[in-house]
Formats: sequence, C-alpha cells, structure tokens
Amino acid sequence: MTVTRLCYRSTPNFADMTGTLDEEIDRLLLTARRNNARDGVTGALLLAGTTYFQILEGPQEAVTYTFRRIARDRRHMDLTLIDERDDTARLVPGRSLYFADTMDAYDGVLASLILPIANAPELVSYEDLASLVMFSANRAARDTPMLDVMSA
Ligand SMILES: Cc1cc2nc3c(=O)[nH]c(=O)nc-3n(C[C@H](O)[C@H](O)[C@H](O)COP(=O)(O)O)c2cc1C
Repeated sequence: MTVTRLCYRSTPNFADMTGTLDEEIDRLLLTARRNNARDGVTGALLLAGTTYFQILEGPQEAVTYTFRRIARDRRHMDLTLIDERDDTARLVPGRSLYFADTMDAYDGVLASLILPIANAPELVSYEDLASLVMFSANRAARDTPMLDVMSA
C-alpha cells in the first residue's frame, strides 16, 4: 500500500476568531474528522504554543485536496510545507485526526519534548514531527478512549 504523507506548520489567526481558541479547535475538529473519515485521510494536529503542526496521510489525491482546502482557511496563516513523501504505511492508522495541545497538563511528557522547539518552529523537522506524533498518539491511545476513530 502506498500512502502520501504531508506535513506543514502554520499560525492560528487569533484576529479572525469568533470564540476562544478551544472552541475554535473543537469546531474545526468536528468538520475535519468527518471529512477525513469520508476521504480515507488520517492524521494529527498538534498545537505547540502559537504554532499548529499537522500531518495528513492517505491516498495522494485526497491528501492534496484536503491540504488545498486547509491552505485557504482563514483560521490560520503563514502556512509552511515541511515535507511531503510516500510511505508504505500510516503513522496514525485509524485516527481521522488525532489532536494534542502540547500545553495540556495531562500530556506533560509531550510538552517537555516539544516546548524547547515550540519557540523556534522553523527548526522542527519531519523526523521531529513524525516521532512526536507517534509517541503522543500511541500514548493517548493507551491512556484514553479514542474519540476520533474512523468508523470505516
Ligand atoms: C489548522 C487546521 C487544520 C485543519 N485540518 C483539516 C483536516 O484535517 N481535514 C479537513 O477536512 N479540514 C481541515 N480543516 C478545515 C478546512 O480548512 C476546511 O474548513 C474544511 O475542510 C471545509 O469542510 P466543509 O467543506 O465540509 O465545510 C483544518 C483547518 C485548520 C485551520
């Protein structure tokens, strides 16, 4: 199986927000998870301080279309592509969109891993992101029920 994986970073656009950042993210996750489950896309969204990092993976066309929609979204800005590559397996199978806020107390280990680089997001590489997401998503799957499991 070939899977396309795309990673980018961006900055939440606080100016355009109608609610709190938590409310905005809850709304965003509802739509994103529904769309991703429909399109066979899996992935992860990390909020690290004032930077979003996202991994999207799935069939190439679905990943490209999803990324185009995301890139047009005014809820974030300064979007920078970190990496795009093909792989033989997904990093976060079964997760339509895993989400973690690295500031959350429950995920203190993750916070301690990423906080040193959250202040310099341009230094976060594909390898940093992939290992963080795998560590974080697996840890969350162990500790909490999966809320974003794909139905199909
Ligand atoms: C940081 C961020 C991440 C997002 N991630 C996804 C995603 O993984 N999948 C998705 O379909 N939409 C995602 N969105 C929302 C899209 O930009 C867009 O609003 C949505 O896909 C439109 O869906 P609709 O046509 O069903 O309303 C994201 C938006 C932001 C700001």
